[in-house]
Formats: sequence, structure tokens, C-alpha cells
Amino acid sequence: MKIFISGVIPQIGVKMLQEEGYIVEEWNHSQPITLNKLIDKCKDADGYINVMSPVSGKFLEACSQLKVISTFSVGFNHIDIPTSTRLGIPVGNTPEVLSNATADTAFLLMLNVSRKAFFNYRRIIEGNWKPGFLSVDYLGQELNGKTLGIFGMGRIGFKMAEKCKGAYGMKVIYHNRHKQEQAEKELGATYVSFEELLNQADVLSIHAPLSEENEGIFNDSTFKKMKNTSILINTARGAMVNEKDLIQALQSGQIWGAGLDVTDPEPMKADNPLLQMENVAITPHIGSATVESRNAMSVLCAKNIIAGIKGEKLPCVVNPEVYKNN
Ligand code: DGY
Repeated sequence: MKIFISGVIPQIGVKMLQEEGYIVEEWNHSQPITLNKLIDKCKDADGYINVMSPVSGKFLEACSQLKVISTFSVGFNHIDIPTSTRLGIPVGNTPEVLSNATADTAFLLMLNVSRKAFFNYRRIIEGNWKPGFLSVDYLGQELNGKTLGIFGMGRIGFKMAEKCKGAYGMKVIYHNRHKQEQAEKELGATYVSFEELLNQADVLSIHAPLSEENEGIFNDSTFKKMKNTSILINTARGAMVNEKDLIQALQSGQIWGAGLDVTDPEPMKADNPLLQMENVAITPHIGSATVESRNAMSVLCAKNIIAGIKGEKLPCVVNPEVYKNN
């Protein structure tokens, strides 16, 4: 059995695959793999671990012999799921094990923005920490008792809400496709409409998966409904935020600040105006980047692949309908 991995992942999962007797090949070049090369590598493979490269219909048609695909991520918006399902290829992902790390990143950005931490750090390294104590410049905001609005109360949203409530006694409101009983019971969270979320949140943190319905949902018209003092946090997918409108909203004072771990496109260009703004903090898509989380993701990918090769149901399958015809 041959498994191809389109990037380098923690070796713990690679070893699990090798212990099954599989031949494992990783793409260990500095440039992302091209579509043609990927097809070349996967056309005789049995399993494929995808490290955030697009899994298009063209790729799937060319490699339809694949028995299983696992993405090294919880998000799967980069994968053509309907085509995978039609071709009978189960697709796995890595939920749960990265929720804590990703919520930590959202929390880090929230606190960072609220006290302009990156900006103040830059003042020092650029030689702008001048003598004298500034009593009215570069002031931040406190988070105690503020209202946290969660857009997408899944596992990561729940963890973020739990941290904010524990640290700052923040009131939690949320908007989701369905009510989330656990969040209501354990965190006293209140379900609100999208409009109410925009109107009431002091910190609005995005945790929904990217879909056709929510692409660009944070735009000029939604920013206008947010408080002038509010902070937007995005650790989900960059495409949910219209970046041009965000820049405008920050420059005009429509909203107060933004913390982004995801952007559209990625990587963000180094001359992006957001990087120069006082009330903005940006990290380069490091949501799940902890040793603990990435090792666990590697193990989960390996478990998905092993199950798929053996014809068993994947521990974490994103297209369970693939099993309906079997
Ligand atoms: C995820 O797991 O979806 C992350 O955003 C990718 O690292």
C-alpha cells in the first residue's frame, strides 16, 4: 500500500502508517506541490494525506483509485467533497484535537488587539519608545465583563467562550445554525440572531466553517451594524471577511480593532495596510500550531488512513454519505 502526504507532518503518524507496512512518501520541498505533480504522486497511491493543498475535482477524477483521503486540518473547504463522495472516496479530517490550540490563538489575538501589543512591540524595535511616560497615547481597552459574540458555536467557539468567561467573566452570546445546549447550560450563552450578534458584541469571534452562504459575510454592511468599540477576531477562514471593507471599517473607526490568524489570500503580502495599524494583530495561520495539537492531528490522520485502507469507517469522516451505497 502506498500513502502520499503533500507536506511534512509530525512523524508520529507517519510511523503508524509504516508500522502497518505501508510505503509512505512526503512532499518535503519548500514550494507547495503543483496539481500535475500531485496527480503524478497519487495516481498509484492507496491513501492521501492532504496538507492544505486544494483537492479539486480534476485531481479526484485522475486519482479515483484512492481508497481514502485525510486532510491534516479540521476545515475541508479546500476539498471537492461532492466529487469525492460520487467517486466513493471517504474523506477524513482532524476535529477536536485542535480546538484548544485554535481557541488559544483567538484568545491571544483578542488580548493582543485590546492592548495593541504587536504595535507596541514594533514601537520598541523601530526605536520609537521615547523617554517620558505617555499617559494618554496608545491606550487599549479592558475585557472584563464585556460581551463576547461567537459566530459558529462549534468545538472551537465553545473553547473560546469558555476561556473568555473564565478569564474575564465575559457575557457570551452566539449565532449558529442550531442552538447549542451545552454552551447555554455550561456557559450561560444566549442564542441571538446574526443582527443582534453584530449589534451587541464587544468582541466578535468567528469560528464557523467557510461555506457558500457565509463567504464575505463580514463586509461593509455588517461592519456598519457593529459597535465602534468592537473587536473582530478571525481564526476560521479568511474568505469570510471582505478585507477591503475591513480596512475601510478600521480606518473610519466603524469598528475598533481586528485580530486575524487567517487572511484571504494566504500568505498576506508584507505591504498590506492592516499590518501597519495600531489596533490590528495578525498571525500567519498558526491556529493549531502547538506540538500537542499537531501530533494529535498526525495520529488522527493516520487512523483515518488505516481505517480507509482496511475498508472500515473513518474515525472522523466528513462525507459519511459515501457509505450509503455500500
Ligand atoms: C484547520 O484545521 O482547518 C486549520 O485552519 C488548518 O490548519
